[in-house]
Formats: sequence, structure tokens, C-alpha cells
Amino acid sequence: MKKAVTISKYQQAFDTLCNKDLVQSLYGECRDLMDGVLLTLHGQQHTARRNIEFKLFRRDFIRYYEKEIYPLTARAAIAPYRQRGHMDLIDFGYRVNMNLTADFSGIDRPRGSAQETEQLLDIVKKFSEGATLFHSTRDKDEVRAEVREAMALFDQVFFQPSKQRREQLLRDCQNGDISADDLPRDVLMILLQHNAEAQLSEAQLSEAMMRREIGFFLQAGAHSTGNSMVHAFHEISRWCDRHPQDRERIDRDPLFLQRCVHESLRLHPASPVAWRTAACPLSLPSGDEVEAGRQVIVDLQAANTDTDIFGADAHLYNPHRQLESRCPPYALTFGIGVHTCFGRDLAGGSVPRGEVDRDRHYLGTLTRLLATLFDNGVVPDPHNPPQRDADTERNNWGRYPVVFEGGKR
Ligand code: HEM
Repeated sequence: MKKAVTISKYQQAFDTLCNKDLVQSLYGECRDLMDGVLLTLHGQQHTARRNIEFKLFRRDFIRYYEKEIYPLTARAAIAPYRQRGHMDLIDFGYRVNMNLTADFSGIDRPRGSAQETEQLLDIVKKFSEGATLFHSTRDKDEVRAEVREAMALFDQVFFQPSKQRREQLLRDCQNGDISADDLPRDVLMILLQHNAEAQLSEAQLSEAMMRREIGFFLQAGAHSTGNSMVHAFHEISRWCDRHPQDRERIDRDPLFLQRCVHESLRLHPASPVAWRTAACPLSLPSGDEVEAGRQVIVDLQAANTDTDIFGADAHLYNPHRQLESRCPPYALTFGIGVHTCFGRDLAGGSVPRGEVDRDRHYLGTLTRLLATLFDNGVVPDPHNPPQRDADTERNNWGRYPVVFEGGKR
């Protein structure tokens, strides 16, 4: 087999990701979690699953999520740390985003206890290790066995009770005891509704499939958003040390804070690469001719710092960077094409273009999280520097100690 083709220029990377004859190939290392989930499906099967899940976004879902779900979850997550006066930002990021994504995915936490959160957190962290197994520096079989164990526990403690509660609600709805508007708005509910409509047909999803899909969603939301939050906090804090006037602007201008977050997303894509395999012989926008089965690596990190698009200082953090209008400020960090991140608008918000109606604009959970941190006076711990994560080749933080210094609330 010939060596993989690597694409590093922004526009070529964009066009390559939009090619429907390229099949997802980065997530084959951990089939117990990733087999048949949205991210690994191709063609008609992918379109069908995406169409089912896209129904979740009906009736202004993102605004509902930002206004109703986010504030409660964020307040509950930060309160115990604030009392203590310090925390590890990685831990907080995982915890708050895991709770947010659990709401979105449809996993109940009926006891609401610290022990229940810990248990789900351990499971989701294990799922994240499985999903990013390709970049792991650990023994891969060992990680696979741990993911299987986590999946069994997830099924028993979280998935089955959440599924059974929703099935009962669906029956209540079918019997006219409650209205469709009273059903929970989450992915699991959408999948169960789909199965009820597709009764006994091939379109029905198996229970194991739904379990993997929800497990994948939980990790997709918690892991990427958690890491992105820590990167953004680090970049913004360092920027404001050198530009104190921007610190004040952040406090009064949420759109500027969103711009700061988007610039950090550009520099720190959740996965540094996207991998695809050619389904048939094809020509790439780079001019390379590839045969069926050849690997194509889209280097998102390189594309996001392409100097032709982002300027000579593309590798540096600068929230005042002037952008070409055709390029989103976070570049390719949420992917593009058929596999564009499902949580993009939820996490990143809408991209301001021209005059913005601030009441209708989505800031995204990431910007809201950063605002929550700054409002609470969170700053890097001056006596305890952050450290990189040694268990992965990805450029993530492993430890990020912070302290609370007063704050507005
Ligand atoms: C900062 C946060 C996030 C980043 C940077 C991110 C990044 C990405 C990227 C790059 C992809 C495409 C991968 C590829 O093309 O190979 C993707 C797909 C996906 N993401 Fe995200 N993501 C984030 C948050 C979320 C959240 C919050 C959710 C769910 C609530 C989510 C759910 C998904 C799903 C379901 C897919 C698969 C879409 C498909 O294959 O059709 N992501 N994400």
C-alpha cells in the first residue's frame, strides 16, 4: 500500500473534507465504542442517522439549551470548587461538560449525588481514551479491555434506567397522557422515537447500537469541549496579562470574549488530524491521484495555521486578527463536510457576521463557560504551573491548577 497523502493547506483541507468518496478512518481502533456510531458511518447510512438526530435541533433548541440548561448546570458545577477556593481546570472542564453533554445525550443522573457524578465521569473518561486510542501512548489492548468494562457498567447504572424512563414516557405520550412537548429533548429520546416509528423495519437501531451512540456522544461532547475550554482559558489569560485593556473588554463585551474563544479553537483543534480512506480512485484538490483504499490525512493543525489565509503570524494567538470573511474564525476545528461536528453551534455558538442582534445570537457553551470562570475570578495558580498530558500525543493539558480571586458573584 502506498504511503498516505497528507493535506496541510487550508483550502485543500476544506475541499478534501467535503469529498463524499473519502471514508472516515481515524476511529477503527476501539470498535467496542465506535462501531457504527455517527462519526464512523458512511454514505446513505450516515445521512439516515444524521437526519434522525438532527430532529433534536427543532424549535430553537440551542437557545433553549443555552438559556435553560447551561446556567443551572454551570452554577451547580462551580459552586463546590468556589467554596474550596481552588480547582484543577481539567477536572472542572470534564465535570461541567460531561453534565452538559449528559443532558444533551439523554443520560439521567437521578440521585444527583457526588458519587453518581464520579462514576459517570470515570466511564466517560474511559470512553474518551477509547475514542482517541489511535493517539494513545498506553498499551492499546489494555485500554480496549477497560473500555469494555466501562461500557458494561454504563449499561447497568446509566443507560438502562435512562432508556426505560424514556420508553415509559413514550408510551404515556402514545396513550395521550402527556403531549409530545413534554418528552425530554435529547438524543436518546430521539432514537427511541425513531425506533417506535420504524417498528420492526431494518431502519430500527439495536440496543447495543444505541448504547454505543450515546456513549460516543457523551465523550464527543465532554472531551473536546473540556480540552478546548482549558486551551481557551490559558490563551486568554496569557493574552490579558500582556493586554490588560482587553481583560476589561472581556468583562463587558461577550462578543469579544467569543472572538477570543474562536481564536483559541483555531490554534487548538480537538483532533490535530482527520483521517480518511478513498472509497474509489479519485483526484484530490492538492492534485494527488489516489487509488481506492489509500489513506488521506488532513492535517487540521497545519491547515488552521496556513499563513496564506491567517497571515504571517498564523501560529500565534491574536484575537484581533483580521479574517477573510469566507473562513470561519475557528477555521476547521469543527471539521467540515458530511461529518461537520454535530455540537458545533452548541459549543462554538453562531459566528457573528455584520450587525449582530445580541438577543438572537448564540454565544455557545464554551464562551459561556469562559465567562463563568472569569466572573468567578478564576486565575491560573501562580504557585502551581500547568503540565502537559503525557498519556497522549495530542497537545492537551494534563493538569491545570487555578485559584478563585474574588470575582463578580
Ligand atoms: C469544542 C468542542 C468540539 C470540537 C472542537 C469538536 C470537533 C469535532 C470534529 C473535528 C468533528 C469531525 C471529525 C471528522 O471529520 O473526522 C466532530 C464530529 C462530531 N462531534 Fe464534535 N466537537 C466538539 C464538541 C461537540 C459536542 C458538544 C458534541 C455533542 C453534543 C459533539 C458531537 C459530535 C458528533 C456527534 C460528531 C460526528 C458528526 C458526524 O460524523 O456526522 N461535538 N466534532
